[in-house]
Amino acid sequence: MTGSKRFAKRAERAVNKDTFVQEDASLGLVVMDSPNDPKPSIRIDKGRIVEIDGCDQENFDTIDRYIARYAINAEAAVEAMATDSLVLARMLVDINVPRHKLMWLMSGCTPAKLCEIVSHLNVVEMMMAMQKMRARQSPGNQAHVTNWKENPVLMAADAAEGALRGFDELETTCRVARVAPFNSLALLVGSQTPHGGVLTQCAVEEGLNLRLGLKGLTSYAETLSVYGTDEALRDGDDTPWSKGLLASAYASRGIKIRFTSGTGAETLMGYEQGKSMLYLEARCLLLVKGSGAQGVQNGSISCIALPSALPGGVRAVLAENLIAASLGLEVASGNDAMSSHSDMRKAAKLMLQFLPGTDFITSGYSSMPRKDNMFGGGNFDSDDMDDWLVIQRDMQVDAGMEPVTEEAVLDVRRKAGKALQAVFGELGFPPVSDQEVEAAATAYCSDDMPDRDLVEDIAAAGAFLDGPLTALDVISALDRRGFEDIAANILGMQRVRVSGDYLQPAAVLNRHFEAQSAFTDRNQYQGPGTGFRLKGAALAKLSAIPQARTAAEMVPASAGRAGVTLKSIGGPGPGTARDVVIALGPAFAAELDTTLCGLSHGEVLKALTAGIESKAMHARVVKFFHTADCGMLGFEGAKISGSGIAIGLQSKGTAVIQRKGLAPLNNLELFSQAPLLSREAYFQIGANAASHAMRSPPSPVPVKVDNMARLRLIVQAMLMHKREIASIVPAKSPSEMQVIHD
Ligand code: 5AD
Ligand code: CA
Repeated sequence: MTGSKRFAKRAERAVNKDTFVQEDASLGLVVMDSPNDPKPSIRIDKGRIVEIDGCDQENFDTIDRYIARYAINAEAAVEAMATDSLVLARMLVDINVPRHKLMWLMSGCTPAKLCEIVSHLNVVEMMMAMQKMRARQSPGNQAHVTNWKENPVLMAADAAEGALRGFDELETTCRVARVAPFNSLALLVGSQTPHGGVLTQCAVEEGLNLRLGLKGLTSYAETLSVYGTDEALRDGDDTPWSKGLLASAYASRGIKIRFTSGTGAETLMGYEQGKSMLYLEARCLLLVKGSGAQGVQNGSISCIALPSALPGGVRAVLAENLIAASLGLEVASGNDAMSSHSDMRKAAKLMLQFLPGTDFITSGYSSMPRKDNMFGGGNFDSDDMDDWLVIQRDMQVDAGMEPVTEEAVLDVRRKAGKALQAVFGELGFPPVSDQEVEAAATAYCSDDMPDRDLVEDIAAAGAFLDGPLTALDVISALDRRGFEDIAANILGMQRVRVSGDYLQPAAVLNRHFEAQSAFTDRNQYQGPGTGFRLKGAALAKLSAIPQARTAAEMVPASAGRAGVTLKSIGGPGPGTARDVVIALGPAFAAELDTTLCGLSHGEVLKALTAGIESKAMHARVVKFFHTADCGMLGFEGAKISGSGIAIGLQSKGTAVIQRKGLAPLNNLELFSQAPLLSREAYFQIGANAASHAMRSPPSPVPVKVDNMARLRLIVQAMLMHKREIASIVPAKSPSEMQVIHD
């Protein structure tokens, strides 16, 4: 049997490089509703929760005990657990039920109950619910900033660009762990270069992470991973209490914290107990809440390819984002790790968070090319930024990235590099050369950077960490070297760490260091006309992508580039049987001077005339003023043609061959796709018109096949046609034209 060539072609598609597996609950290969998941239940005895989801307190594991004690609101549980899950699901999508009412009810739900509620929702309903339930009214975004060479100058430049592009948080990590203090420093200096207020972190081992925060080099941490079974937690050397303690350690020192969890982790670790991924994630989220954390990054994060391999995996990921938001947690909603080989599949998945908005649409948008992403490659990276911006503009949705000009990017990258050079110089770190600063400003990736002595950098980074210098020394170094604005911004970051405002739930800082949070910018969405609305200056900014040109730029005013002058020699005469009329539109070689495919009007006339003359016929050029319609030009031209044949020609290049006596739209040959007509094509059109005049058979006109031509040129075509219409003089009769080529 020979196979289908279409199947063979599809087999090569990117999506078929992805892995797909059938469900098998016994192996934990199930995203929602495993047969091993418990049914929702709760029992409360004297205000204490003594049973969760069919499990009596005698049999509680550590997570049950923790969430019974600290996470589930026993008071709300009475009402919530007694309410049908379908009713609660409907309340989630009901614009008349406010967020705070749902937060109260959800705070009383057990893990199985939370899963049962969201299992009633399809993805559109989940998106509607997410729009209402996310904590902060204004959506935001986080970016990853790393590079393979661990070059601090490139990192500072990338951080500056990330801040300029509007990311609220920047996260770095290290390929070589001991360089972390320099990465944190470079990220901090860069992040505060275009403006102040961007939060930064360096994801490393918790002890080091805390020390970086205490030095004032970072302002948030989201390294606190939790898992939904005791065994998985233990595998990470943890208990719920150890995580809670760690969270408190960060927060007590003014460092914003967010936990990390997400579907698939327990299955990957082999400790999922045959439970569904979402059920275990619901346990994680209650653990996060019980620890007093303000938020979480979930959406599977590094595990995304596993739920994605299963039916409903992408839906389950939105469900886990929604459960987190419904519990009042800030959500950085994933979309950071590679989720598919297919651009179409990645974009489709992204829309589930992009369209409703979340606190951070991605848990880390890779702001550099894939090879420099030390988080294992990003789902979307620097090459994809324009796509992201165009989709925002298409949908009129703010997904946390702003359009920027190349000039502005180069400026801030260069400035950040110079600022870091100054800091390294002042603090006696291995010097940064001018060449490095310049390379970092213009680099595509770290291959474009000169090599530094990494051993020397690591030694200096270690001494910096262990020594007395802190962010305050960085500030005075910048101040001494003329970077007062960056110094002031970094000082601002130290100030907020003391005041602690950005420890409010879902807080990010605006450019004046004010916390925008679930307190100050509370999501109040309740249907059309409420909540976050992209309008005014923000909408204009997002729409103004640099690629968008004005109409005048796209079709400039005619500037004498026609290469030909047409001189009226009076009204058209009767002509002879050897004449083919070229019937021109009113803007020809006047208000317009080139066709859509870029041929000058002179070149087009030359080619048509040569074609006509190649058959020993004669071209007569007549310009019409009362119509811009190609069919009518051909029709009117044929009426006054001695041979009865005319070529109607619009100024944008669209052409028709017409014979006297035929109805206007019933022509001999139509060349409706002007962008596809070359000089050779016009020659053949001329020759064919002459052949029609002689009643001999025409030859095929060589028309290029370019399926993208319409897509590419539709705006120009419309603008040129508008100009032709504007050139119409209704009462003016046609003129016979003498053609004078330049
Ligand atoms: N659950 C818990 N922690 C996760 N991480 C990534 N994905 C998850 C998840 N689904 C954490 C791990 C990883 C880091 C990038 O984030 O600690 O190393
Ligand atoms: Ca992150």
